[in-house]
Parts: sequence; C-alpha cells; structure tokens
Amino acid sequence: MPITILIGAQWGDEGKGRVVDWLAASADIVARYAGGDNAGHTVALDGEVYKLHLIPSGILHSNVVSVMGNGMVINPISLVREIDALRKLGVQITPDRLVISSRAHIITPAHIALDRARESALGESKIGTTLRGIGPAYLDKTGRAGIRTGDMLLDVEEFAERLVAAIESSNEDLYAQGLESLDAREAAQNYLDAADFLRPYIRDVSIYLYEALKAGKKVVCEGAQGTLLDIDHGSYPFVTSSSPTAGGALTGLGVGPLFVERVLGVAKAFSTRVGGGPMPTELDGPVAGHFRGSGANFWDEFGTTTGRPRRCGWLDVVMLRYAVGVNGLSELMLTKMDILSGLDELKLATAYEIDGERFEYPPVTNAQLERARPIYETLPGWGVDINSCRHFSDLPAAARNYIRRVAELCDVPIDIVSVGPERDQLVINHAQ
Ligand code: GDP
Ligand code: IMO
Ligand code: MG
Repeated sequence: MPITILIGAQWGDEGKGRVVDWLAASADIVARYAGGDNAGHTVALDGEVYKLHLIPSGILHSNVVSVMGNGMVINPISLVREIDALRKLGVQITPDRLVISSRAHIITPAHIALDRARESALGESKIGTTLRGIGPAYLDKTGRAGIRTGDMLLDVEEFAERLVAAIESSNEDLYAQGLESLDAREAAQNYLDAADFLRPYIRDVSIYLYEALKAGKKVVCEGAQGTLLDIDHGSYPFVTSSSPTAGGALTGLGVGPLFVERVLGVAKAFSTRVGGGPMPTELDGPVAGHFRGSGANFWDEFGTTTGRPRRCGWLDVVMLRYAVGVNGLSELMLTKMDILSGLDELKLATAYEIDGERFEYPPVTNAQLERARPIYETLPGWGVDINSCRHFSDLPAAARNYIRRVAELCDVPIDIVSVGPERDQLVINHAQ
C-alpha cells in the first residue's frame, strides 16, 4: 500500500515543500492534488532556495515523476513561467518528469479579475485571498462552466473558442460589478502559446497513478494550503476553495483509499496565518516579532507567494487536535523548532474558553471562535541553538518535553521535527 499523503495541519505554510522534498528521496512519484499558484512551497538545497507554486516539490529529485492532479486549478501562463524559471536553475523538466492531469481546471484572466473585484467589494471583511483567481476558477468548476487542461488537447481553434466563451461569460459578472470587461480574444491569444507548450505533458493522471501503484511504485501526495483553510473543514468563509484535507488527495488525484499507507501531518511549532479570519492564539508584540523575524532570512514569516507578513501566535493544540481528527493523521511532524530557541517560556493553547464553557475542539460557528479565549499551559523554553541537532538525544530536554507534550495533547506520534530549512536539518526519533 504505497501512498503517503502529506497534509498541512494548520493554515498553510507549515513547511510542506521541504518535507515533501525529504519524502521524495524514497518515492517514485510526487503528486499535488489541490489548489493552484496560491501555494508557495519552499525547498532549500545546497545554497539555492526554490519557491514552487504549481510544480510538485519532488521535481528536485531527478528520479521522481511529478504529477499535477485533477483537483488543481492551473494558470497555464504561471505554469510555463515556473517551468522556465526552474530550467534556468538547472532542473530538467520534460514530459517524462512532469505529468499534468487532463481534468484540472484552467484559471483564466477573467477569474483573476473577478477575484480582485470580489475582494475589493468585501472591503473590511475581505478574505485576504492571494488574488490568483482561485475562488472564481473553482466556482466555474462546480458550476459546470469551467474549461479544463484537457481542452488544450483540442485543435487550436476550438480551444480558443472555448476560452473566449468562458471569458465572455465572466465578463458579464465583471460588467455587473461595474468593472471593465476583458478583451476576450486578446486574453485567449496569450493562452494559446502556453497550450502549445503544455500539450505533451497532459494525460489521464488517475489511470497513470493506478498503473504505477499496481506496479508497486511509491507515491507521495503533496498537500497545498492546510486543514484550516479547507472549504468544508476550515473556518468558512475565510478559507480557500479546495479540499486540502486527506479526502481531497483521493478525489484530487482519482486514487482509491486502499492504497493509502500513511497520512502525515505537518505543523509549525507555533501558529501562523496569512489573510483574514479567526486565529485564537494570535499575538502582537515581541513574541510575534520573534516568530516572524525581520524578513532578512528567506524562512522568516512573510508569504512565499504574496510577500505579506504572516500573523503569528503560540501553537494552537485545539486546532491541531482537530486536524488530527479530520485527516485521520497517522503521525505529525513539527517544523521550525529552531525558531522557538531563545524564548524563556513557551505556551500551548490546550483548550478554549468560550462564554464560560471549555472546548477541546474548535466550536462550530465562527462567531464563537472569534470569542474563544485560549487556555494556555506554560512550558520552559531553551536558550541554545538547535540547528545542528540530528538525533532526539541531541535536543535540549525542554525541546524534547515540548514535543512530547504536543504529541500527548493531540494523541498522535511525533517522531520527526525540523530544526532548519535545509534538506538535512531534520531530527528523527530512531528509538521509535
Ligand atoms: P509550505 O507552503 O508549507 O511549503 O511552507 P512555506 O515554504 O510557504 O513556508 C515555510 C518556510 O519555513 C519556508 O521558508 C521554509 O524554508 C522554512 N522552513 C521549513 N522548515 C523550517 C525549519 O525547520 N526551520 C526554519 N528556520 N525554517 C524552516
Ligand atoms: P501553501 O500551500 C497560506 C489563504 C489566503 C487566504 C485564503 C484564500 O503555501 O501552504 P485563495 O487565494 O486560496 O482564494 O485565498 O487562503 N491561502 C494560503 N495561506 N499558505 C497557502 O498555501 C495558501 N493558499 C491560500 O491567504 O487567506
Ligand atoms: Mg507556503
């Protein structure tokens, strides 16, 4: 049963890219199943920092095939740009190494314009999207009005006609909102070159994966975003429009559950969120500044896709416990443990108090969540740098205690933590 699903257990940016890069060393295929270029996955390798938005993070391993699933929404122009940029860094990308589902949906320029229009109409209560057209593209998908990557296999005229029709239909929405409509023919024209380029990469991904799995190949499913941004399970409407949770991996790739062996969650050792919506443990002040960093390091808490400063706070165990449940996590990894170094004490939100009642899991409504007061447990911090630790026994006792306590509170094993952004900066508990 060779599938490992890798899920973000918080609000995204947990360090999924670097974990996938590590898992890819013992995989044959890495497959993304949700989202689009709203994602930004960072992999640091030998002094180079790769920021991947659409292409799976397995691409840096030459023996791994990267797959983009039907659950994704793809902006073909961004994809071609990303392939070009990676090639310039010496990464080989050919149809043998990158497979794109024929059933993924295409983000058009009209989707991007609509994303902007909706956000500005929402004013103060905006979602804080990445403005990449994600929501409008998924809306057209579920409204059965979208165009798909497989349409790029049609003859050029027919694909162009479909694009023009899709953009003209979105133009009506733009017009209704008093905004300038797009020149559909001009916008479509830009997509034709991208379609030409991408055509050889497009195929039926589900069957490709089925055959590979039957042959015993190992597949890592790369989550984008995170559990708390899930369209069903996140704090709706402050979510993305796809299913980053474990079930999304199956529908977003068209694979069956019996192949799944492992569901690995990734969480940062503290909390971050970018965009609007409730975040009970959010801090401002010196501890938030400590977590965020100044922006001088590439790992500081500024969005990989948009550059926005991320909101920061203590680790929210209530949310993590929920992520363990919703995804059925078999294990959890903690990243950025090194960032906790230097704080005298550390806090874990073990429960919420809402209107005098204690909650071990997030409440049902956002209104309650907005009123949630975290109940904190305080643990001792540690002063030493832990970047060069590689074994659990190398970690200071306070760090081991922190990990043990999170595992206990979430009722999930934590046997791997990261202590720096580089590929080898991992601590693995071999005693388990
Ligand atoms: P993703 O979207 O989940 O792949 O995460 P991002 O790449 O958006 O953000 C995670 C950031 O943390 C990246 O800059 C990573 O290089 C960095 N990172 C990951 N793990 C660690 C770690 O253990 N320590 C430090 N300092 N940085 C890390
Ligand atoms: P990775 O894969 C963090 C957030 C946006 C916004 C909400 C909706 O790098 O973890 P969208 O553009 O998807 O309609 O925005 O979701 N968001 C992310 N936050 N990491 C991401 O991806 C995100 N992708 C979307 O900030 O709050
Ligand atoms: Mg990210």
